[in-house]
Amino acid sequence: MILASRNKGKAGEFERLLGRALDVRPLPSGVRLPEEKGRTFAENARLKAEAVFAALGGKEAVLADDSGLEVSALGGRPGVLSARFAGESATDEENVRKLLEELGGRTDREARFVCALCLLVPDERAAGKGAYRSIEVQGSSDGAVTTTARGTGGFGYDPVFRPVGWGVTLAEADAGRKDSVSHRGAAARALLDRLVGEEEAEDGT
Ligand code: IMP
Repeated sequence: MILASRNKGKAGEFERLLGRALDVRPLPSGVRLPEEKGRTFAENARLKAEAVFAALGGKEAVLADDSGLEVSALGGRPGVLSARFAGESATDEENVRKLLEELGGRTDREARFVCALCLLVPDERAAGKGAYRSIEVQGSSDGAVTTTARGTGGFGYDPVFRPVGWGVTLAEADAGRKDSVSHRGAAARALLDRLVGEEEAEDGT
């Protein structure tokens, strides 16, 4: 299946999380991703999956992800705007700096990462060209925003996110440890469960 994303951090994680069970391929360079106009992660994941599915002629399975960080003290921001928090083409460092500035010296720093996945699979049995069946799942991961950035692993807000029960940030942990608690890990496991469930239902097992 084609991954509807150009985020290298995400692509590496999907390869680790799904690569043993599924053939995850990069988005062909000519395919444009739509503007993320949705109000929820799930809406945006579906928008991306449908646009890429159509652009590829409805012949290939497409997996889209939309994810971000919800900070309680900021009323859930940056949320769906996580990638663009500090501006339209902001870097990870700029977004992290803005987040730390907005939180300032606040002590209530609870946050959660959310990942919505939308998988569209061509459905040859359904009437009409471009028909598909969809599987939509979501995963989340609770934690807190630290007061300073620490670590060099991962991407995005990883240097300032400390999962519940951890003494280090996601950017200080190795990849496998991040996958075991991350929102993307949870969503990927939910997706694999659904795929196995569907396969078993088709086989009548
Ligand atoms: P999207 O491409 O609209 O889904 O943007 C996701 C943005 O949320 C990324 O650019 C990061 O800023 C943030 N984000 C999502 N997942 C993670 C993660 O696993 N670690 C750190 N930041 C993340």
